[in-house]
Amino acid sequence: MLDLHEKRIVLGLSGGIACYKSADLVRRLIERGAQVDVVMTEAATRFITPVTMQALSGRPVFVDAWDSRVHNNMAHIQLSRGADAIVIAPASADFMAKLVQGRADDLLSTLCLARACPLLVAPAMNREMWLAAPTQRNVQQLVLDGIEILGPGTGEQACGETGDGRMLEPLQIVAELKRFFQPKYLSGVQVLLTAGPTVEPIDPVRVLSNRSSGKTGYALAQAAWEAGAEVTLISGPTALACPYGVTRIQVETAQQMLDAVMQCVTGQDIFIAVAAVADWRIKNISTNKIKKDGSSAPMLEFEANPDILATVASQHTRPWCVGFAAETENLAEYAHAKRLRKGIPMLIGNLAQHVMDAEHTTVSIFDDQGEHALPLGSKQDIARQLITAISERFNQSHHSR
Ligand code: C5P
Repeated sequence: MLDLHEKRIVLGLSGGIACYKSADLVRRLIERGAQVDVVMTEAATRFITPVTMQALSGRPVFVDAWDSRVHNNMAHIQLSRGADAIVIAPASADFMAKLVQGRADDLLSTLCLARACPLLVAPAMNREMWLAAPTQRNVQQLVLDGIEILGPGTGEQACGETGDGRMLEPLQIVAELKRFFQPKYLSGVQVLLTAGPTVEPIDPVRVLSNRSSGKTGYALAQAAWEAGAEVTLISGPTALACPYGVTRIQVETAQQMLDAVMQCVTGQDIFIAVAAVADWRIKNISTNKIKKDGSSAPMLEFEANPDILATVASQHTRPWCVGFAAETENLAEYAHAKRLRKGIPMLIGNLAQHVMDAEHTTVSIFDDQGEHALPLGSKQDIARQLITAISERFNQSHHSR
């Protein structure tokens, strides 16, 4: 997916063992369509060679402020002009201290000081170095200076210790960058979503479920996070990884999904119900595996599951609610009726045959103004468009309260 298409990134490496992750980071950025110019400090070249970074980026790598390949000898100016962002990964404690002081004693630090574009910094260091008072002071100052701090992560460190200070993984840095470039329509807004199927037990080994990959709900959760929201995702069983930046609570049955939603719903601004909740559950769940005795099939008794969206929408203080409808026919008629029946301001409808397991999908928005069709797109494109549409309507309703 070319979601960093035409972005020009200057990737700066300062000295640290996490430089090995930066090789992969270059690949991940390029496969998303970015152009990457790598600049390394002298210390970084002790951990990984410029040749490696050049082979991966497909572009010359710069280390020396006096590099004669830049005709006017101003690599520090040339490299950052036209760049969409400079990303320092890894950023050592020393390099961050340099940024704070505005020092310019090598190409990378000079480039940062002379930049005319945003700067993002992914710290990587031993946990004691990270927690040290001077480092924490420097981090605070960098934030005040408008510099984005990515991470750090926590966990096992190359030195054998465990704690905060690991550089984020390449895909996490990519996620942060993608977010950085998105407009922040939902800044500070709390968003709760349900996604995936629910699974209702028949006996200890058999279940009843819906066909749902969870992709649409997960893409919406990610798009909401990219738009600046704080996102909680309550998910039935799926094969998908939790989107970076999102808090996920995993459940199985509709009842568990309702319980989790009701526990989280207080203080939420927007609720987006994407889950394909099983409409019925088995009333007479067998405690033991049902045996295939003779030719008779088991008699299953069903009872209705709670309607999670309708329950939330009927609360006295409720978030702004969005529903989904996957139909196989008469989409507009059923969707309008469903929106009114559930008492919600917006419903997103699609034809089930267009959405299940598909990478690309097409949807329509139904609200009190009628139907608005979105063009066919990837689930990520559609998710971003839907989050924009949701935020416009949410912000309008918020301001008119
Ligand atoms: O009633 P129906 O299943 O067609 O409605 C679909 C919408 O309602 C979706 O947004 C779905 O997530 C939500 N829903 C729910 N709880 C149910 C059934 C559906 O939240 N038990």
